[in-house]
Amino acid sequence: MSGAGERVRLGIIGLGIMGEAYARIYSQHPLAAVVAVCSRRRERVEEIQARYAVPHGATDYRALLDGPDLDAVVVATPDREHFGPALAALQSKRHVLIEKPMTTSVAEADELLRAARTAGRLIQVAFNHRWLSAYYQAKQLIAAGEIGAPLAGYARKNDTIFVPTEYIRWAGETTPAWFLGSHDIDLMRWFLDAEPLEARAWGRREVLAGRSIATYDVIQAQVKFSSGAFVTFESAWVYPRSFPSIVDSFVELIGTAGHVHLDRKCESLEVSTVEKFSYPKGFLLAEIFGRLRGAFPQCLEDFLFAIRENRPPAVTGEDGRQVTATLEAIHRSLETGRSEPVAPPVPAAS
Ligand SMILES: NC(=O)c1ccc[n+]([C@@H]2O[C@H](COP(=O)([O-])OP(=O)(O)OC[C@H]3O[C@@H](n4cnc5c(N)ncnc54)[C@H](O)[C@@H]3O)[C@@H](O)[C@H]2O)c1
Repeated sequence: MSGAGERVRLGIIGLGIMGEAYARIYSQHPLAAVVAVCSRRRERVEEIQARYAVPHGATDYRALLDGPDLDAVVVATPDREHFGPALAALQSKRHVLIEKPMTTSVAEADELLRAARTAGRLIQVAFNHRWLSAYYQAKQLIAAGEIGAPLAGYARKNDTIFVPTEYIRWAGETTPAWFLGSHDIDLMRWFLDAEPLEARAWGRREVLAGRSIATYDVIQAQVKFSSGAFVTFESAWVYPRSFPSIVDSFVELIGTAGHVHLDRKCESLEVSTVEKFSYPKGFLLAEIFGRLRGAFPQCLEDFLFAIRENRPPAVTGEDGRQVTATLEAIHRSLETGRSEPVAPPVPAAS
């Protein structure tokens, strides 16, 4: 940590939509100092440096890691490009806050876990939905046995077609399950306090393939957990733009003595104007009295606390690894048409 008021000195790799949000949130935070940023395009690096007064910039993450003194690094590159920067950051003895999904293969996740252990540094995966107050409340009441033993669940996260066609440019290099379903798999594993064991998945490629984006329109996967519960995960990328928010999202669990249902299609606010009807989003990130608030900034703040208090974060690399293992099984099942086993967690010492 720097001498300057014990701020955590941060570097950010990847300066797209999420990377800029990290720069905005951390540059406002009294316990953080954004010291360096990195992205592939020089103009983008300079733009973010100027906008958030960041002293160092680089177009290669190795240069960022070799440069200024940093305590921690944020990895906010596209889904398939988390591994290289995260591994290099851990090898250079920086703590890492890595966007979801942690990696797109179990082998890569295992290498990151080994590197973190060797370096004695933390990995937090940015499954920021755990910081949504209703979800946290649901976790507490499920753990207290208020719905009995969970029997089965359903989780939906479906975006409008705006996301794979305009919001990100790399939709063809990932799938809606990696991009969206990863959040829900993390939540269900957390709610159930159980490990995913096997997955059977089905997917369709019609609409996006027709627009030369080589990915799935929709994936549904059934995952069986070690508790006996089974959960259907649905992720889709083809809702029309007329849908009143960017994402349709809900999670439900049915237990032996009750149920929980979390619906984020509408986050309390419904608006109609002459142009359109909408459900504006604000639970994850909203500017309130000039400061950025919500589950996402709280997730980022807790990473700072974990570093300062030298304790494991709320979402660990091991959690991220099991989400990746589940998604790997789901994607294998899409190929084979069979139920596929999920790689079990690695014992802590190996
Ligand atoms: N937690 C959430 O709620 C949430 C929401 C959206 C996206 N995400 C995740 O965040 C990550 C980034 O998504 P995004 O929407 O910001 O994508 P984006 O395309 O807007 O930004 C990615 C950035 O990474 C840069 N980049 C790519 N490879 C790089 C490399 N090797 N070195 C340095 N920079 C590199 C690109 O130039 C681009 O600026 C993804 O993994 C995505 O799944 C998370």
